[in-house]
Amino acid sequence: MKYPIYLPEITTREKELVLECLDSTWISSRGRFIEEFERRVAEYVGVRHAIAVMNGTVALHLAVLAAGIGPGDEVILPDFTYIASANAVRYAGAVPVLADVDPETWNMGVEQILPCLTPRTKAIMTVDVYGMPPDMDPILKLARQRDLVVIEDAAESLGAEYRNRRAGNLGNIGVLSFFGNKTITTGEGGMVVTDDDHSAGVIRQLRNQGNSETTRYFHDLLGFNYRMTNIQAAIGCAQMERLNRILERKREIQDLYRENLEEWFTFQRIEEGCRSSHWMVSLMARDAGTRERVMLGLNRAGIETRPFFLPVHSMPFYPSQEDSPVTVDISSRGFNLPSYHLLRDEDVLEICKEVRICAGATS
Ligand SMILES: Cc1ncc(COP(=O)(O)O)c(C=O)c1O
Repeated sequence: MKYPIYLPEITTREKELVLECLDSTWISSRGRFIEEFERRVAEYVGVRHAIAVMNGTVALHLAVLAAGIGPGDEVILPDFTYIASANAVRYAGAVPVLADVDPETWNMGVEQILPCLTPRTKAIMTVDVYGMPPDMDPILKLARQRDLVVIEDAAESLGAEYRNRRAGNLGNIGVLSFFGNKTITTGEGGMVVTDDDHSAGVIRQLRNQGNSETTRYFHDLLGFNYRMTNIQAAIGCAQMERLNRILERKREIQDLYRENLEEWFTFQRIEEGCRSSHWMVSLMARDAGTRERVMLGLNRAGIETRPFFLPVHSMPFYPSQEDSPVTVDISSRGFNLPSYHLLRDEDVLEICKEVRICAGATS
């Protein structure tokens, strides 16, 4: 592909820090980079605790467990999300209750949450879909009134902001992903971020086989080996040094796409008071047929695309649901375009021109 959907940037800085791990033989889950990476992310997000783990999915699993969610509990989350959000609830033996989303912001708000509340609701999991947080204040107010925990799946939104607070720090516990196509990457990697001392303690322990803090080889919790390696963290430290520059360039790229395609395609409406991380350039065609035609044409031209996530309820292991019409519609018409910060203006313009041709619009 001439233009892949995403490309991580690996510089001599990543190589230098990884080489330090190899030379020092600190290649497993101990070493200076883990604490350093956690410290940097905590400081950036604005929380007291950041706990590095193997990937975003296990970070979600630990967040759900630390929130005390278990069998019999229900967690409300959007039907329009990546499958890992719902699966994490299932791993804990709880029930994901899938809410529809707003047709313009593609996010779940209070309006969609309210009909899903039952006496068994224990938590709300918000998802900052494609990098943009939902309108969090009304959700947090509802959660306080009903004594619910708010888990923020910020896997896609490192660097996004909502009313001067950074993504990851918008609920009680936040989760980040550092997969290769994320704003910064560690190859595979994730992090749980929180201000809550108790949750942070439980998460640290669960990450490390439930090992007691005081007695070696005594495990007072049924834990997991979800630890991140020093090598992953070294890559993360190098990436954090460039985060602001990456975010800035991604915003410019997003603006250029919008300027050149907004006339023919619908983009995500930016929530008031929000700054998206613009993780993925995401747009909707006027109908499913146009989307297919555009994606096929772009593929032939060497431009990689991705269809939007399928509704979670369409997976065979989740109950089929009739009442998520917005999710079903968005999912059938939406697609992502190449989104990495290394794209030059002329690359974006070339991609836009091809998109317009494939859509049958004039170039
Ligand atoms: C919304 C959302 N949640 C969770 C995850 C899982 O993260 P990971 O791939 O690091 O396990 C992703 C990954 O893309 C995601 O987009």
